[in-house]
Amino acid sequence: MRKFSFKPQRWLPAVLLAFVSCVFLPACFAGRGSKVKNPQPTPPFTVPDKVAGQGYVYFIGMGDQGEGTHEQRKVAELMNAKAQKDSLDFVLLLGDNFYSDGVTSVTDPQWRTKFEEMYDLSFLNVPFYASLGNHDHHKNHAHFQVEYTQRSKKWKMPSQYYTFTQKIDASHEIQFFALDTQVIAETKRDNTSQAQWLEQELQKSRATWKIVFGHHPVFSYGEHGNERRMVDLVRPLLEKYEVDAYLCGHEHDRQLLKPVNGVHYIISGTGAKSRDTSYGKNTIFAATNLGFAWFRVSPQEFHAQFLDGSGKIEYAHTWSKDGVIKRAYEEMMPVGKGSKTSGKGKKEKTKKSRWW
Ligand SMILES: [Fe+2]
Ligand SMILES: [Zn+2]
Repeated sequence: MRKFSFKPQRWLPAVLLAFVSCVFLPACFAGRGSKVKNPQPTPPFTVPDKVAGQGYVYFIGMGDQGEGTHEQRKVAELMNAKAQKDSLDFVLLLGDNFYSDGVTSVTDPQWRTKFEEMYDLSFLNVPFYASLGNHDHHKNHAHFQVEYTQRSKKWKMPSQYYTFTQKIDASHEIQFFALDTQVIAETKRDNTSQAQWLEQELQKSRATWKIVFGHHPVFSYGEHGNERRMVDLVRPLLEKYEVDAYLCGHEHDRQLLKPVNGVHYIISGTGAKSRDTSYGKNTIFAATNLGFAWFRVSPQEFHAQFLDGSGKIEYAHTWSKDGVIKRAYEEMMPVGKGSKTSGKGKKEKTKKSRWW
């Protein structure tokens, strides 16, 4: 009988290589091979000409960027190029500003590597209005992101949730409302006080356009799916106070959904990486891979562009204040109160213990 001889020097390297390939390489390249599972043809779109003498506000919405990688820098450079070509007044950061566990102080080196130096490009010398993501809350360090506002020329987070206005012209303005959606999404914490604050602020607002932004989606056809508590607590306020759009990240994809009772839902969470996504019944446009959303707002029109990892406009959508485009898409999203769109929502729930 042949005796089995143990010769680790022969097979061990091969096994180790296979192990590393299977376990670590997919993690290293996570997002690079992400795809839209059921791609649909992109609807035809136009980029309306600007009207001479009209006031405009220009901003970028982008989230899930805080990796400190060359992918984050690539998106920063594309943002800079867009700002140079078509203008930019400020950036909305849609959360997960510092992977994996937020910052540990106001002097954490990540401020330099993942924010100040990362966006130190001449046309990005604008305010960055930031919101908090689930990763920013790890270890209860979110308050450092508020405190850093005092130390930076461009980082703006006056409070964990806050509002600011931007003038379009002498008689029109946009009001923005930044939410701390982790507090809303996490059921253990008090999340009604923030909803009360949002309601009070929306009630007071006389702005031409009202935009709410935060990290977790209300509705989504991405890997996470609808966020139940956002649907329960935030969605009714968006509709009651005629908010024009809700912008968020968390999904590492870009999605534009048909308006639900007049509210547009826009996801732009590809500031450094991407993840598989899909088209759903109410999707107008969906994409993955790196990129961001750029907006141009006049007193009459809200124009949204989705740009890919080469800076190309993949899709653009314009709606007007008089409701013409709104009415064309007006329909209810078929979801029950607080329901999830698919089984993917359940999968996300099981992952919640580690906030991912
Ligand atoms: Fe994220
Ligand atoms: Zn997230």
